[in-house]
Amino acid sequence: MIPIILISLLGLLPVVWLFSKRTRLENEPPLDKGYIPWLGHALEFGRDAAKFLTRMKQKHGDIFTVRVAGRYVTVLLDPNSYDAVLSDTTTLDRTRISQMLLQRIFDVRLPSYEAEAQRRCMERYFQGPSLSQLCSSMYHNLQFLLATDTTPGSVEWKQSGLFNFCYSMLFRAGYLSMFGTENNNKAELSAVYEEFRKFDRLLGKLARSTLTKEEKKVAVSARERLWGLLSSALQSEAPEFQSWRKRYLHLLEQSGAGPETQTRAMLMQLWLTQGNAGPASFWLLAFLLTHPEAMKAVREELRELQRPPVDAAQKHTPVFDSVLKETLRMTSAAFVTREVLQNKTLRLSGGREVLLRQGDRLCLFPFLSPQMDPQIHPEPEKFKFDRFLTTDGKEKTEFYKDGRRMKYYSMPWGAGANACVGRHFAVTAIKQFVFMVLTHLDLELSDPNATIPPVNPSRYGFGVIQPDRDLEVQYRLRKLPRNWSSPAYTL
Ligand code: HEM
Repeated sequence: MIPIILISLLGLLPVVWLFSKRTRLENEPPLDKGYIPWLGHALEFGRDAAKFLTRMKQKHGDIFTVRVAGRYVTVLLDPNSYDAVLSDTTTLDRTRISQMLLQRIFDVRLPSYEAEAQRRCMERYFQGPSLSQLCSSMYHNLQFLLATDTTPGSVEWKQSGLFNFCYSMLFRAGYLSMFGTENNNKAELSAVYEEFRKFDRLLGKLARSTLTKEEKKVAVSARERLWGLLSSALQSEAPEFQSWRKRYLHLLEQSGAGPETQTRAMLMQLWLTQGNAGPASFWLLAFLLTHPEAMKAVREELRELQRPPVDAAQKHTPVFDSVLKETLRMTSAAFVTREVLQNKTLRLSGGREVLLRQGDRLCLFPFLSPQMDPQIHPEPEKFKFDRFLTTDGKEKTEFYKDGRRMKYYSMPWGAGANACVGRHFAVTAIKQFVFMVLTHLDLELSDPNATIPPVNPSRYGFGVIQPDRDLEVQYRLRKLPRNWSSPAYTL
């Protein structure tokens, strides 16, 4: 056995050598291959992408190429040049990378990957009357879950991790609103959440194919359980306000996907639609609980609201909106990645032209710039609840770098044709949830001196980041309002 492995490895050496031979050509970005053959910077990148890319930015500037597990990735960190990337859908392709991730994470191969048609299908659902229905359903489901998870009139505090509390509320309410059926029961809903969390915890490693044997077992078993739970939920007829489900499944069917592939694709939709709002709500409440002046300002604004934020169109919450923007500035950290289909000259904002090589990847990381760029946002590591407010309390939209007004000063939802289709719904759901928690619960840190937990650095690149450990809180229901209505489903 060992000689066979040795011979195979020796056979690979010329390939590794050839690949390592790459040198920087004229007009190409600075090249940093790292010292480890083939792997290059893969380990450091996977451990903490934000730290690694900050180091590279300090060394090379706003554009550079790094070797990561046999691939060459050009990283662009100049927001004023992002449009040149986002607007080119011909030579810069996202389909193949998405397909690869779909296969690695969700074990699904869609017969013909029609990203645009899928996007249009979801887009229609997240605007106009469908969005209003969805927001209203979310509101009632959140009310219901908060009421069932607490005991009205009880003076006893309930102890919980804030991350788990927020994620479980937003996930279960979101699941009921978008995937729920009349057959759902409480145990099944909890099972979907529990399995989803097991799966979600390992998502980064699944995407990078770096799971240990044990972790692989856990991830595969959680994925299979979720397929089973989703497929039985999907067998019943979708109610009118979940029209997206019918349309989406129809689209998959048309492209030749059988029932098994449809269920697997649904797990991807479950993650896309339910994987970010819970973690974002956690960070928002954690910042409020550790910044009393911000909590005071939000509470004052809430007191003045005429009615709870059921509707997506309700916009009279400038303080809350600034708090949410600041939270997402510091925690939304998706990569925007493209594959270079043919050699291309990219014109950067300052007029400089750089060559991109066919077969390489191009990656934007808006989290580092603009979001954590100290020239655009002074003291970027600090949570400043009024960062996105003007001095007269209106939304602030003017941010500058080197005297130039920034078009992109924060990009938590991505940008261009691929920006998050669910952002209006996400904002409303987070607002509804935070409103309910602050108006109907007594909520405090279990340890008044507790601070925000550190970030799990392996989550950079996959949407809203998650904490390394939970933040312990205690809460109790003040009193159940008389007008709290029943959920969209009886559990
Ligand atoms: C705080 C919460 C959320 C954040 C920060 C967020 C952020 C993002 C980002 C960065 C992208 C990728 C854009 C790109 O590829 O360049 C994305 C895509 C997407 N998001 Fe969200 N999202 C959130 C919540 C939601 C919710 C609640 C839904 C739906 C219920 C949703 C639905 C989607 C969908 C369907 C896509 C794929 C769009 C496409 O295929 O082009 N997101 N989101």
